[in-house]
Amino acid sequence: MNICAVVMAAGDGKRMKSAYSKVVHQVAGKPIIKWVYDALCEAGCEEQVYIVGDKQEQIRDVLGEGVAYVFQEQRLGTGHAVMQAEPFLEGRGGFVIVLPGDSPMVSAKTIAKAVDAMESADYAAVVITATADDPTGYGRVVRDENGNVLKIVEHRDCSEEELKIREINSSMYIFKTSLLLSALGRLSAQNAQKEYYLTDTIDILIRDGGTVGSVICDFEDTLGVNDRYQLMKASNIMNRRILMKHMMNGVEIVDENTTWIHTAVEIGRDTIILPGTRLMGNTVIGEDCIIGENTRLDGVQVGNGTTIDSSIATESVIGSDCRIGPFSHIRPGCLIKDHVTIGAYVEVKGSEIDEYTRARHLTYIGDSKVGKNVNFGAGTVTCNFDGQDKVGCTIEDNVFVGGNANILSSVVLGHDSYIAAGSTINEDVPSYALGIARKEQENKGDWVTKRNRLRGANYIKLDNRRSEL
Ligand code: UD1
Ligand code: CA
Repeated sequence: MNICAVVMAAGDGKRMKSAYSKVVHQVAGKPIIKWVYDALCEAGCEEQVYIVGDKQEQIRDVLGEGVAYVFQEQRLGTGHAVMQAEPFLEGRGGFVIVLPGDSPMVSAKTIAKAVDAMESADYAAVVITATADDPTGYGRVVRDENGNVLKIVEHRDCSEEELKIREINSSMYIFKTSLLLSALGRLSAQNAQKEYYLTDTIDILIRDGGTVGSVICDFEDTLGVNDRYQLMKASNIMNRRILMKHMMNGVEIVDENTTWIHTAVEIGRDTIILPGTRLMGNTVIGEDCIIGENTRLDGVQVGNGTTIDSSIATESVIGSDCRIGPFSHIRPGCLIKDHVTIGAYVEVKGSEIDEYTRARHLTYIGDSKVGKNVNFGAGTVTCNFDGQDKVGCTIEDNVFVGGNANILSSVVLGHDSYIAAGSTINEDVPSYALGIARKEQENKGDWVTKRNRLRGANYIKLDNRRSEL
């Protein structure tokens, strides 16, 4: 079938009170307009024209140059928006799908159903409608006594009787291209909003002797985002759907209210997602993992059997059977292999850490290469910034780093070496050597009694009033 789409996305989105175009705001990690684009592609409609306005650059940044754009100089209504696509539609024949750019919940299934309806009968157009509990603000679908669509009346133009209709116009349609073109040419702006309404084409087509079919979909699928409240609503509904998909695939999700998962995320079965967890971007998690509580992963790849507790990780790879957290921060560019432990208050950035290495507490590893089976004592710091450049160190296999050591830029710790606790290492340490760089200890006998510094039972009583803490 010769089929194309026109997407109306030139509106100012005034009610969003934003510097960004309404349709580039994200729902479940994907811009609203991209949801529309993807639904059209999934429904088999690759040829798409976007009617854009002042913030068109932002839309082009999202969709790229694989689609066509038409600039609508003045926003004179949805009918006027589609008129801008006339040069593109002329002589095309076939069907044209018209969608609003601000409805992220639109599904390929609904579009496909409407296409089927068009193909099954000789309709001039098919309107996608839904039943709203509260139809306020929507165009109402008026039908005749036989249930056939007669016209669509905008809320502000409705009579008392029409206001009672709960079937609403989703603003999603399919038209016979030639008939849409003929109807567009006859639209007028004589209505409450002084706009060219696309909805009036339905009335015109029927007056011309055509019939208009309808496909009724879930009200949620028609949800438009006009303000921040509707953006939140759409995000919530989409999130529930995503959680449901994962649960049906064998992922355990403990709390639907505090778990947020972006649309592109993949999770293996028997993985448990604990409350307060947010999985973002193109995160991919393997099987049998435990993620959370209170964890954020953004663009992270995780193997199987890994636990990540109360931690943040970004743009990194974490292997299988790792123990991460609580309170670890894995910054971009890390490659953490299998069986690694990254513990409490450990920060890792731009580093490669090989198997079985442990940094259980209070460590910073930056821009470094760390071998297998390395042990970091608490408080170890790779001093990767010399004030000018960021250069980490190289720590080979089986190295033991004692607590509170500093390893300076570019230093190489040879395999199977030991670093004494408290050392600041600024020269390479050969394999099998002990690197020690600290002043020898001296004990001053009876210093406490001589100086009268006994501390005795001088306990400090804590006040239990919060304001005093
Ligand atoms: C529209 C429908 C209404 C339907 C509702 C569903 C009309 C007249 N009304 O109303 O029947 O129930 O959607 O959500 O069509 N746009 C342009 N250029 C313009 C005007 C609008 O590109 O000149 C775009 C907007 O950016 C938006 C879409 O068209 O993406 C719909 O416009 P909007 O003003 O939101 O229409 P509604 O009042 O919601
Ligand atoms: Ca709207």
